[in-house]
Amino acid sequence: MGFKVKDHYFNKAKNENFVARSVYKLEEIDNKYKVISKGDLVFDLGYYPGSWIQYTSKKIGKDGKVVGIDIKEVNDKIDKIPNVSVFEKDVNDLQTLEELGVTSQFDVVVSDMAPNTMGIKSVDQARSLNLVEMVFYHLPKLLRPGGNFVIKVFDSHDAQEYLKQQRSVFKEFNYLKPKSTRSVSKEFFVIGKGYKGNE
Ligand SMILES: C[S@@+](CC[C@H](N)C(=O)[O-])C[C@H]1O[C@@H](n2cnc3c(N)ncnc32)[C@H](O)[C@@H]1O
Repeated sequence: MGFKVKDHYFNKAKNENFVARSVYKLEEIDNKYKVISKGDLVFDLGYYPGSWIQYTSKKIGKDGKVVGIDIKEVNDKIDKIPNVSVFEKDVNDLQTLEELGVTSQFDVVVSDMAPNTMGIKSVDQARSLNLVEMVFYHLPKLLRPGGNFVIKVFDSHDAQEYLKQQRSVFKEFNYLKPKSTRSVSKEFFVIGKGYKGNE
């Protein structure tokens, strides 16, 4: 089953000119929770190779803008899309909105960041949780009050406990394991709507 799912979404992404199959995770999340709207300013953490940006740039249209960061070298194909800017940057080094080329907070923040997995469950879970904590740490500066949020999490007891402490910063807080996620994967997504952080 796992591999059939993989082949189906891999081929679909190829046929539809998306640079990664991950696009169908964001599409499902957005169809269900209405996270991204026309004209939005969106921040994508861990954007590379850029399928989430391909999806988002269409959805927000010419009046919107999507900014991405990743530790990988800039993907020029993605950077050439008119309403897109991407930077080679580590989330741990993020400091100001200005360094992302924007002057106001984002309407939407999405993160599909994942650490390089070692295959040692406890280490992989801890590294993933570090990334999640780093994104939450930056949220007050990045996300406007009322804004929406999507983040990938590797499931663990510690992650569940951490998320319980964060849920009150959003009006709505939901978890989803999209259909296109490989069945063996322990990842799921948190969808926060109506950020209360700066109120
Ligand atoms: C699953 S991929 C993202 C795929 C992307 N959403 C797409 O649709 O094409 C995860 C990305 O997170 C990035 N990443 C991991 N640690 C990071 C960090 N500390 N700062 C920024 N990006 C990071 C990785 O380099 C990798 O490209």
